[in-house]
Amino acid sequence: TVSTQELLLSRIRDVPDYPKPGVLFKDITPLLADPQAFTALTEALAELCVRHGATKIVGLEARGFILAAPVAVHAGIGFIPVRKAGKLPGATLSQAYELEYGTAEIEVHAEDLAAGDRVMVIDDVLATGGTAEASLELIRRAGAEVAGVAVLMELGFLAGRNRLEPALRGAPLEALITL
Ligand code: PRP
Ligand code: MG
Repeated sequence: TVSTQELLLSRIRDVPDYPKPGVLFKDITPLLADPQAFTALTEALAELCVRHGATKIVGLEARGFILAAPVAVHAGIGFIPVRKAGKLPGATLSQAYELEYGTAEIEVHAEDLAAGDRVMVIDDVLATGGTAEASLELIRRAGAEVAGVAVLMELGFLAGRNRLEPALRGAPLEALITL
């Protein structure tokens, strides 16, 4: 709803020139510190997971974990961590992706996702879409189905939605706020 969006937006802090000059960083820590706002965010994301028939929730390290874990508990759906490379102890699937400078790699425990799972990916921000795109590759390689991607904020001017579109294969990209 509009009032939920306004509440969430009011708790996101603009930090100029972070992490480098010319970038306006969107800091969610005031939202996390406000129980009314954090609860509203959790409920809104959980509602999307239920609406799209998710049976598993993937959170993207690190900020995605903060949102996805309470959403999973609230929705009564299992939480699966997608971690930066080298952090998971078991057998993993890994996926490299392009950053502005260089590459990054994310991993999931291979046994955590399988055919029959419908997975909703949760993260704080969709920027270029590279992180989310790599997570969809992992989910499909594990044999699972993508229920959708849900983020608190989409940075529209970076056109991540366009980049993500082929990997979504018709699954929804939900953003509570578009900036
Ligand atoms: C940030 C953000 C998203 C990602 C979005 O994560 O939390 O996960 O970038 O960017 P993209 O759409 O261009 O891929 P980052 O890896 O910077 O840090 P974090 O560990 O704090 O989440
Ligand atoms: Mg992140």
